[in-house]
Amino acid sequence: MRLVMLGLPGAGKGTQADLLAKELGIPRISTGDMFREALQSDTELGRQVKEYVERGELVPDSLTVALVEQRLSQPDARDGFILDGFPRTVPQAEALRDTLAAAGKPIDAAVFIDVDQEEAIRRIAGRRVCSQCGATYGAGAPEVEAGRCSQCGGPLVQRPDDTEETARRRLQVYMDQTHPVVEFYRAENRLVTVDGGRDVPEVLADILESLRPFGLDGRAGDAP
Ligand code: AP5
Repeated sequence: MRLVMLGLPGAGKGTQADLLAKELGIPRISTGDMFREALQSDTELGRQVKEYVERGELVPDSLTVALVEQRLSQPDARDGFILDGFPRTVPQAEALRDTLAAAGKPIDAAVFIDVDQEEAIRRIAGRRVCSQCGATYGAGAPEVEAGRCSQCGGPLVQRPDDTEETARRRLQVYMDQTHPVVEFYRAENRLVTVDGGRDVPEVLADILESLRPFGLDGRAGDAP
């Protein structure tokens, strides 16, 4: 399947995209992760996006679209992918539609994880990530208490753009520039909306069920 994850910052897109990627056997492609990796390794891309990411602003469309197109051309994305954090503007959605139409492989569905703003802020404030492997943990997880990643033992830190001030800016940017993307996919009859205010496994089950009419006919390996 070719899927897009939509929702407020902190809605749980990355959490669900990771689980779906395992369930469906297709890669999760996160533009946020790609930018953070570039920042950490101080590449030319990292230098280009630094100011935007740190301020909670969007990276320019031209840069982001080129990065995603390059990533989608990799062999592991041939049989499907989950885009997490892209598209984030209507021009990005249009560019993606045109690229995939040229290949005859359109997006199957866009999953909108619906949470309210205060819950999103609460989740962002509680989030800790492993500084070594990037694993994400939410408030209340034993790893957050211990300050250590249970997957690799690395120290947990707060994302630099997870301060309350930057998170509020990201929410505003979302309302101005990304929410119209939800309407873009609704108009294309490809939108699936799930209540993201519930526990992680419940949200996942709802997403899987909601994707059935869009071509999900079972678990990974069941697809023809
Ligand atoms: P990006 O990394 O995409 O950030 P985001 O959209 O703001 O999303 P988040 O990663 O904050 O949240 P999420 O929805 O993935 O939630 P998560 O699963 O972690 O982008 C960062 C920056 O990069 C942007 O600001 C921009 O500068 C740039 N950028 C990226 N893409 C771009 C693009 N296309 N164009 C231009 N610029 C771009 O969950 C949050 C927390 O809640 C976690 O701690 C998690 O454990 C917990 N949690 C998850 N689900 C639940 C649940 N059901 N119940 C309780 N807790 C939960």
